[in-house]
Amino acid sequence: MNIRALISAVFRKEVLAMDAYKVANAQGFIKLDAMENPYNWPEEIKNQWLEHFKEVQLNRYPDPEAIKLVKTLRELNHLPEQFEILLGNGSDEIIQLLLMALPEGSTVLAPAPGFVMYKQISDCLGLNYIGVPVLAEGFDLDLPAMLEAIQEHQPLLLFLAYPNNPTSNLFSLDAMHAIIKAAPGIVVVDEAYGPFANTSFIDQLNQYDNLLIMRTVSKLGLAGLRLGYLMGLTAIIEQLNKIRLPYNINCLTQITADFALANSELFNRQTKIICEQRTYVFNELNKINGIVAYPSAANFILFRVPSNKATDIFLSIKSQGVLIKNMTTQGGLLTDCLRVTIGKPDENLAFLNALRTSLAELSV
Ligand SMILES: Cc1ncc(COP(=O)(O)O)c(C=O)c1O
Repeated sequence: MNIRALISAVFRKEVLAMDAYKVANAQGFIKLDAMENPYNWPEEIKNQWLEHFKEVQLNRYPDPEAIKLVKTLRELNHLPEQFEILLGNGSDEIIQLLLMALPEGSTVLAPAPGFVMYKQISDCLGLNYIGVPVLAEGFDLDLPAMLEAIQEHQPLLLFLAYPNNPTSNLFSLDAMHAIIKAAPGIVVVDEAYGPFANTSFIDQLNQYDNLLIMRTVSKLGLAGLRLGYLMGLTAIIEQLNKIRLPYNINCLTQITADFALANSELFNRQTKIICEQRTYVFNELNKINGIVAYPSAANFILFRVPSNKATDIFLSIKSQGVLIKNMTTQGGLLTDCLRVTIGKPDENLAFLNALRTSLAELSV
């Protein structure tokens, strides 16, 4: 059998044209590339957690509606009665569900640069993805350009990450509201980094029928669980629930998330330390000659390095055992940019030292 002919006959052209989403091998590195919380749980909490596992019935399918976990999330987010929650295997899966539900060839719109999965999944499904550049100065929304693109392309789905990844800023509120009002379809405010920004659009659900809020436990400290959730009007969530796979949240995730969220003061303490370290790393970066760090409302910092040096600096930092993210390869506003996740204090020091060493080595 001619395997090439088979593959091109079987798979859609969009799939054939795609590159897989690559995750760097972080084995042995100080890992500051993926916006994870660097803190694990104290021993006594871990032991309490393991006690809960004794009750798990691995021979049974999990609760398809994850009723207990949904109740916990509802309380945690003070979600009013008339709204419903959809759970996903990470918010990645929710993005996929939303996009899968759209009519063929629909337009999806988001500010650029934005979270790569919006485009990756849209491309895979043959949707028309439009990225509208943010302002070069400060990375805020370019409101006139956004409104014009909405008018012209009539997107059925619009993503606004609040704070945005990879630029880490909160878009201005006026612009967010103007966009939600102007959108002809659904607007998803993606609050993956909400815990570090201390602000949310949940209170606005009452104001806009077309608004959905997406959150995740990943950045909070539970990335290994794969749990994201979407909140909005029951009538909309019901439609999405039809295409959700029945057991998408496994029983270990359900029980762990429920247990962990009951211990949310632990995450609040960790978040506070991460935010303090964010200020420290930001100030230290801006003291280094040739480096410009951008203000962050998330748990990572985007910074600009001298022209055409980003990849060399990234590799030099890596050779010193610290893994961050090279953003210059994405081009546009991210040219000459690197992104570092805030880690533990000693990890942040190791990163800053590695950066200083790399600049000296490269004579930048
Ligand atoms: C803006 C944004 N949304 C969603 C996600 C996906 O998060 P999850 O781990 O819940 O799939 C990320 C992950 O980096 C992100 O940056």
